[in-house]
Amino acid sequence: MPSLEQARAWYPPQDPVHGFDHVLRVLELAERLGRGLGADLEVLRAAALLHDAAGAAPAPAAAAAAEQTEQAGGRATHELDSADFARSVLQAEGWPAERIEAVTHCIRAHRFRGAEGPSTLEAQVLFDADKLDVLGAFGVARTLGYALQAGQSFFAEPSARFLETGALEPGEPHSAYHEYLFKLRHVSGRLHTEPARRLAERRHAVMKAFFEQLAAEAHGDV
Ligand SMILES: [Fe+2]
Ligand SMILES: [Fe+2]
Repeated sequence: MPSLEQARAWYPPQDPVHGFDHVLRVLELAERLGRGLGADLEVLRAAALLHDAAGAAPAPAAAAAAEQTEQAGGRATHELDSADFARSVLQAEGWPAERIEAVTHCIRAHRFRGAEGPSTLEAQVLFDADKLDVLGAFGVARTLGYALQAGQSFFAEPSARFLETGALEPGEPHSAYHEYLFKLRHVSGRLHTEPARRLAERRHAVMKAFFEQLAAEAHGDV
């Protein structure tokens, strides 16, 4: 099992969006949810520590391309790259193949817009723990942090086309508010486990209130 200090070194030291503090929150939530649900905690813990280890942070040069990459499913393969990295780490530790596969499935399936859905309890718990950290106060803070990193605004007026289809009009800037409309407001409805759904209620309400207030202030309504 990788130690916390080992895992810390895999993540950027100063990244409030995909840095190690996110991983620690996911680890704690995953262990809490997993314990209550009878999940395999060793698999879950390794998966949580490794889940964003490769390619999750936007490269410094990503700002200009962020709009397109986000729309095209930004950070498109970080779940696959992280799963490959996890395999090499756990093989070096001598884990048996089927337990490595249990961990790498969790990692491949943790992404909201990923191709592979979580098919084991451990993968569902990791997915839910990771998604709880895009809701609530930390979720809002991370979404604003991501917008800053990518050179996007906190708020831009969404087009009718974006509201209907989720696709940007030509020249329409992506913003943190767009991310809320397109993804974040749907996350709590996509969770897999009952205890995570309960935790998500307040986090969803906090995030919704923030982005509704943001839009109201941008429109000068309040
Ligand atoms: Fe991720
Ligand atoms: Fe994550």
